[in-house]
Amino acid sequence: MIQILINRKDLANHLFQLRANGLSLGFVPTMGALHDGHLSLVQKARENTDHVVVSIFVNPNQFNNSKDLELYPRDVYGDIEKLETTACHSIYIPTVEDVYPSNYQQPYYNLGELENTLEGSSRPGHFQGVAAVLERFFMDIAPEKAFFGEKDFQQVAVVRKLVELKQIPIEIVACATLREKDGLAMSSRNRRLNPELRAKAAQIFMEMQKISKAKTLEDLIRIQDESMAYLNSIDGFSVEYLEVANANSFEPLSKQSLLSSPSDWRIFAAINVGGIRLIDNCPIELGG
Ligand code: PAF
Repeated sequence: MIQILINRKDLANHLFQLRANGLSLGFVPTMGALHDGHLSLVQKARENTDHVVVSIFVNPNQFNNSKDLELYPRDVYGDIEKLETTACHSIYIPTVEDVYPSNYQQPYYNLGELENTLEGSSRPGHFQGVAAVLERFFMDIAPEKAFFGEKDFQQVAVVRKLVELKQIPIEIVACATLREKDGLAMSSRNRRLNPELRAKAAQIFMEMQKISKAKTLEDLIRIQDESMAYLNSIDGFSVEYLEVANANSFEPLSKQSLLSSPSDWRIFAAINVGGIRLIDNCPIELGG
């Protein structure tokens, strides 16, 4: 039967037993409102480790906008039901006080350029909060492997940076983004879209695909501008960014940078759809 652990003490006791039995741990951190993308991470974790722990915690420290935190979808009972039908063994659902006791002081993480581009510059403090909660969970759970979705591509880079900075011996496994039939990247935030906006939201990936198929730099820049204008013209849409950047350094595309490193470029998008912030990314084939 699935174990539900609601504080650090329960978690520690439970993990002690598992370790005594020599089981390897796979960890899937989430903020709940689970969808098939999350469940695919659980499946991947089960294929690669003996015991899968999923955390459900809406981390206040990674929200730079209090309204966004308040409106973030929550559905703990629905999440537990979903996890009961998957390969998950334990669910960790701590309270804010448990994760951040009154004497907790959030450390500063030197994440370098990751904080100056795309999600880093658009959401000041966001990655510091992500690193803080994950350091805590990684220390408390000490899994062999942790699983993350590539929809949050820059977040995966932040997590790799965190384990490098803190020398945490955990393998970070990045898993492909799951999409709805019309191409929209699965996200907990999609639940907040009304049917009209939900239908229109598919345009994001359609435009990204057009950009990804450009054959020359000139074409790419033209299509990118056209897509940006088109997305901004849709009622209720506002483009925060639609940028091509290097998948490793996250530096923005320029002719020079492309010539020095012709592969590993991705298109990154953050689009406000009726006040709901959706992000996505995909590889581009330019130079190929
Ligand atoms: O991707 C998320 O849901 C969150 O950023 C994470 C990794 C669970 C940390 O709170």
